[in-house]
Amino acid sequence: MSHGLAGPTSLLQIKDLSVMVETAEGDKPILNGLNLTVEPGQTHAIMGPNGSGKSTLAKLITGLLEPDRGSIDTEGIGPRDITLLPRKPYMMNDTVYNNLVYPLRLRNIDPPPGLIDEYLDRMGLSRRRKQKARSLSGGEQQKLALLRALLFRPRLIVADEAMTALDMDSLDVFEKMILDEKKKDPVIWIVISHQMSHVRRLVSYLFFMYHGKMEVEGSLDELFSNLPSEKQSSNPHLRQYLRVYGGGTA
Ligand SMILES: Nc1ncnc2c1ncn2[C@@H]1O[C@H](COP(=O)(O)OP(=O)(O)OP(=O)(O)O)[C@@H](O)[C@H]1O
Ligand SMILES: [Mg+2]
Repeated sequence: MSHGLAGPTSLLQIKDLSVMVETAEGDKPILNGLNLTVEPGQTHAIMGPNGSGKSTLAKLITGLLEPDRGSIDTEGIGPRDITLLPRKPYMMNDTVYNNLVYPLRLRNIDPPPGLIDEYLDRMGLSRRRKQKARSLSGGEQQKLALLRALLFRPRLIVADEAMTALDMDSLDVFEKMILDEKKKDPVIWIVISHQMSHVRRLVSYLFFMYHGKMEVEGSLDELFSNLPSEKQSSNPHLRQYLRVYGGGTA
């Protein structure tokens, strides 16, 4: 397995990343010497308890935050090919349709009408094309943001709790769409989520963070309960996390 090694095909490589914040007791790290390597065509999850540093890492990867130490190498993926999908996506004060095609227009790409119709239809948003995007419900806004990302095809997508408001049917449709798109394009997906059943369906490789450090990484099988108990992760923090969030019998 090439994960964890600095192989020549890896597309995102993070080395020794640290971020400090000022506190009453002096400077404290919120990310501490973190390493991570991900490859194209893979879907990854970053898991970890509240406050473990996942969103901070997401902002660093997508260029919204500068580290105090360490490096992030995206090997030729430019800033316009990297997208952060937050829990509350940004919507321009414009229609659903214009929000959807905005990134394409920025890049002088003609919106493909058939594909847009199909996407809106699959997400149940066809009727809402002309509605102001900011008047959509929370779940509808998340759907629009996900469709927008699928449509303009960035090469690296970090979804930070970006599907938390989707109902089960919509989640199901999206998982299929993401997996279909992934077959066509070697896009890197990094999904941050506490929804374990969703992570298990979508993701092939997992990173587990705890207190600003990357504590464990491995394939779905390695970290979840598909293995006999003696071979499951021995990391106590991960086992506790899976007990709470339901990662099987760990
Ligand atoms: N500017 C700041 N000053 C002090 N502490 C900060 C600052 N920014 C972030 N933190 C702390 O850093 C830690 C990591 O925050 P982060 O948002 O990355 O966590 P997270 O893993 O995304 O958590 P969640 O699952 O709740 O979304 C938190 O404990 C947060 O309070
Ligand atoms: Mg977060």
